[in-house]
Amino acid sequence: MKKIGVLTGGGDCPGLNAVIRAVSKSSLRKGYKVIGFKDGFKGFIENDFIEIDDKIVSGIIAKGGTILGTSNIANPFRYTLSPYGTPENPVDLTDRVKEIFELHELDCLITIGGDGTQNMAYKIHQLGLGVIGIPKTIDNDLASTDYTFGYDSALSVATDAVDRVHTTAESHDRVLIVETMGRYAGWIALRSAIAGGGDIVLIPEIEYKPEDIIAYLKKRRANGKLFSIIVVAEGAKEKGGEVTVTKVVKKSTDPIRLGGVSYKIADIVEKNTCFEARVVVLGHLQRGGTPTAFDRWLSTCFGAKAIDMFEEKKFGRMVAIKGQNFVDVELKDAVGVLKRVEKDSFEVKSAINIGMSFGNSEVG
Ligand code: F6P
Repeated sequence: MKKIGVLTGGGDCPGLNAVIRAVSKSSLRKGYKVIGFKDGFKGFIENDFIEIDDKIVSGIIAKGGTILGTSNIANPFRYTLSPYGTPENPVDLTDRVKEIFELHELDCLITIGGDGTQNMAYKIHQLGLGVIGIPKTIDNDLASTDYTFGYDSALSVATDAVDRVHTTAESHDRVLIVETMGRYAGWIALRSAIAGGGDIVLIPEIEYKPEDIIAYLKKRRANGKLFSIIVVAEGAKEKGGEVTVTKVVKKSTDPIRLGGVSYKIADIVEKNTCFEARVVVLGHLQRGGTPTAFDRWLSTCFGAKAIDMFEEKKFGRMVAIKGQNFVDVELKDAVGVLKRVEKDSFEVKSAINIGMSFGNSEVG
């Protein structure tokens, strides 16, 4: 009997359960056995797993988070967790990876995760083991796929927040600043600002200039607009400046956690204009709760596609969506290259055309 392992790695996001469900249902129907490793690669290394049957994956399509748990720290090739390693002494557990494959006689491991997880998946593939990736992240920053699941749900939370701050900003004649996640890509900030009718959007791809933010706010005021909404991505930075770091997670492969840039923007506003500013940092709200219809659909098709790929022995590859088509791409091409907002893209131009500012007069 064929046996498939599945795990969710990296930060959680809406849609993970919908993928687990689709992977499991497609496999069980074919008579394959499915096991789910707990807490990403941590459970894989520790051989902590559950056998998945139809009952376990019933009724979970709309549930946020992941029934398997996840970890954005455990990396089998630089393991920092006890009893194997420490942050100071990370260890390479290549042999343990092979051992777990042998122990379970796994035909394939399905890795549901973002850039970090797919990087690990690629290394497992290089060991000659069967692995197929499914792209997840609210940041939508993975090259080789038009969309990652989780992004649409985060975008919808962010857009709702931008909508909601309008009335309070307007009532108090204030500048309301909404900070979104997204790491080094501005997809959540840009599209929620466009969809929510934001006035200024600050994204990592376009460095802002404080004087241009101030000039724009003053111009709005001169035009009778007594409130403004600024959407800022956590990775945004001043021209020639640095990103704002909120935390360094030593155990993590990617230790930098961004956050807090919105307070810098509030300071710029209050020190240079007559406006009062208030900040809303959306944080993990963007990763919680039920997935949107789009994410449920995308997750289901991604999961089913992975099992199709398994049957075609397309290992070392990742599921992707390109236009209307579900395709597969080489894992090695999918990792390490970030998909970021392009300054010259039509959506940036659209925002400028309707009068939005990127806080940089050289761009708009
Ligand atoms: O990659 C997803 C993401 O939510 C980023 O947008 C954010 O920068 C990061 O993860 C936060 O990580 P953590 O959950 O460790 O705080």
